Amino acid sequence: MTSVKMTVNGREVSGEVEGRTLLVQFLRDGQGLTGTHVGCDTSQCGACVVHVDGEAVKACTMLAAEADGAQVRTIEGMANEDGSLSTIQQAFQDHHGLQCGYCTPGMVMSAAALLKDNPKPSEHEVREYLEGNICRCTGYHNIVKAIMAASGQDVSRIAAE
Ligand code: FES
Ligand code: FES
Repeated sequence: MTSVKMTVNGREVSGEVEGRTLLVQFLRDGQGLTGTHVGCDTSQCGACVVHVDGEAVKACTMLAAEADGAQVRTIEGMANEDGSLSTIQQAFQDHHGLQCGYCTPGMVMSAAALLKDNPKPSEHEVREYLEGNICRCTGYHNIVKAIMAASGQDVSRIAAE
């Protein structure tokens, strides 16, 4: 077993993990942060995306021990300080960017990482960025729309589907 310590959503946490313990297991099982989902065992779905030191990372592809000392942010840390939804979360709600919601935490975390690096992405850039996130419900259209709306762009030209 190895001791790990990291900051998760602004709170310092620590624990004992096995060498093979994945970051997603540490967050879900060790910290009870079950908003980070596991949707596959092939590292393809993106439901597990979190931020590690500001970068979007699939938490099923990283060992908990590798995140030792890191700043980690999960979907539970995305709301505003007063508990209201962040701009991206609100845009998903306003533009119906979710149905079952299983992919949504990963989508929101990926969207936040995209907008940090590219504050006004084109529709093509959003679609390209989301290649690592699978949604089985929405057909992606409203997710793209929500992300573009969250970036402050006019989405009225993006036809409803
Ligand atoms: Fe991590 Fe699917 S659970 S990519
Ligand atoms: Fe169901 Fe995306 S909303 S998988």
